[in-house]
Amino acid sequence: MAKTPLLIANWKMNLLPDEACLLVKRALELDLSRNLGLVFATPYPYLPLINSVLQSELHKPGKVGLAAQDISAHKSGAYTGEVSGEMLKAIGTEYVLIGHSERREYHNEDELLIKNKLIRAWEKQIITVLCVGETLELRNKSQHLEYIRNQIYESLVVAIEEFGALPAELVIAYEPIWAIGTGRSASSEEVQEVHGYIRQILLDRYPNLVFSILYGGSVNVDNATKLFSIRDVDGALVGGASLQIESMHGIIRSFVKSFAKA
Ligand code: PGA
Repeated sequence: MAKTPLLIANWKMNLLPDEACLLVKRALELDLSRNLGLVFATPYPYLPLINSVLQSELHKPGKVGLAAQDISAHKSGAYTGEVSGEMLKAIGTEYVLIGHSERREYHNEDELLIKNKLIRAWEKQIITVLCVGETLELRNKSQHLEYIRNQIYESLVVAIEEFGALPAELVIAYEPIWAIGTGRSASSEEVQEVHGYIRQILLDRYPNLVFSILYGGSVNVDNATKLFSIRDVDGALVGGASLQIESMHGIIRSFVKSFAKA
């Protein structure tokens, strides 16, 4: 099904408000193309601020979007420090990252929790960016495909069954853990193998699902064009290189060149 190529900047826990605003304004100096999306995954406190910057750019071609980096698995109530899907939606959030490996590792997020977060987001029509990816140990043992399949089955497939419907749109981000923040991105063959596999699993099971598959893990100005040329890559989730305007500009240019349709 039709999918929107996406470039998502994942700032993680970086930048102060002024720096964040400036980065978005400068990034939006470049023109996108009508069929493309550029999304900023900001820390929670900046969501309204960045939303107001994005609103002033809505007249331009292409889609700019606002993403949260996490969402509560609960609807509301006594959950100190958590932010609900309803709150995110109310302040204009359109996307949410779920199951990033840093949350899996540092906050012990498991597939059950991730499944619940997916459902909470879908209930509020927030587009979910489900992050999956293997450790180096699993890759060295050639168990990466099986691991990723299990991640998808135990979170996404169970979530769809429980939700009782397909989400209107879905994004999967393949982020091999050994490539995140290490400067060592996966090779074209490694990326295509996993992306092709994920596409197959999803299409076999849900022929009507509208989804895109992004690559994440040390995407930078030098490797972006090559990564975007891989058949089953529909865009990227960029961490470190999204924090500097020079590298962000370079990656946006590659993105537009690779995916723009006249
Ligand atoms: P990186 O991070 O681009 O710094 O490797 C990607 C991510 O964690 O989303």
